[in-house]
Amino acid sequence: MIRDTIDFALGILRPLRPDDAEDLVRACNDPSIARWTQVPVPYALSDAREFIGSHAGEDHAWVIDVDGLAGVIGVRGTMATLPGPVTEVGYWVAAWARGRGVATAALVAVRDELAQAGYQRIDWAAVAGNEASVQVARKAGFAIEGQRRQGLVHRGRLVDCVVGGWTASRDVPELVAGQWQVQPVGPQEVLPDLRPLASSALAVWVPRTAVGGNDCGYVMAVRSVAGVHLVAIDAPDEATAAARRYLQAQGCHITEDPLPSGWL
Ligand SMILES: CC(C)(COP(=O)(O)OP(=O)(O)OC[C@H]1O[C@@H](n2cnc3c(N)ncnc32)[C@H](O)[C@@H]1OP(=O)(O)O)[C@@H](O)C(=O)NCCC(=O)NCCS
Repeated sequence: MIRDTIDFALGILRPLRPDDAEDLVRACNDPSIARWTQVPVPYALSDAREFIGSHAGEDHAWVIDVDGLAGVIGVRGTMATLPGPVTEVGYWVAAWARGRGVATAALVAVRDELAQAGYQRIDWAAVAGNEASVQVARKAGFAIEGQRRQGLVHRGRLVDCVVGGWTASRDVPELVAGQWQVQPVGPQEVLPDLRPLASSALAVWVPRTAVGGNDCGYVMAVRSVAGVHLVAIDAPDEATAAARRYLQAQGCHITEDPLPSGWL
């Protein structure tokens, strides 16, 4: 189940209310929202009221509330039976709330909400050139997967777009290490205490015995400013070494620094 109200790092994600209309008008009459999203231009009070009533086609739309309306984030594709089609996310942040990590934190919260509800993939797309949105997606753990030529209808024209997505189980291979099959898993498959870390990890593997399939701890690859931390939790050394070799072959700089405090 996807919740209507979600606490997140900087405030709450909550349903739209009729008294949001004026803030929506103030926020959406902003050149960069007009430039990069599909909101009507100019944005009138009637547009706000219609959006509040209908969510403009989103299955779920939340106000990103950080001491008041700071933006909106919405998802589509959640109405079908699981595993269903992929879900899709869109967002904007009001000019007055930008540059403080609001979009990234809200996207992380929605990503985790969908993952908890069992969705495996979240699609993301932006008009080519929307560097701010690309950074938000990257920081929230989405992979930028490429560019689609004339891949998006934007204000009545086909424009190039950047596409990407987040997947619950990362696109990392299963590794073989001695008697261990080191299998990639999604964040919902790890112990509840480890889920926040697993949600932001580049990769999470569970070493399993090749015969019998018994689990033996976790190996995670977690990125920080220092590089990629290889976090082994009760995992056999061979499995950790296999993960290290794989990540190095991918060009990752493995750091021996401890994880930033509070991450585990
Ligand atoms: C894109 C948008 C949602 C970002 O909101 P935000 O809350 O300011 O984003 P964050 O603060 O979480 O920024 C995340 C990262 O993006 C980077 N970023 C933000 N604005 C940027 C810009 N104009 N150019 C390049 N990078 C930018 C930041 O550097 C930040 O990284 P840092 O923390 O390492 O500095 C906001 O600018 C916006 O609403 N733009 C117009 C609508 C839009 O483009 N929506 C997305 C459609 S796909």
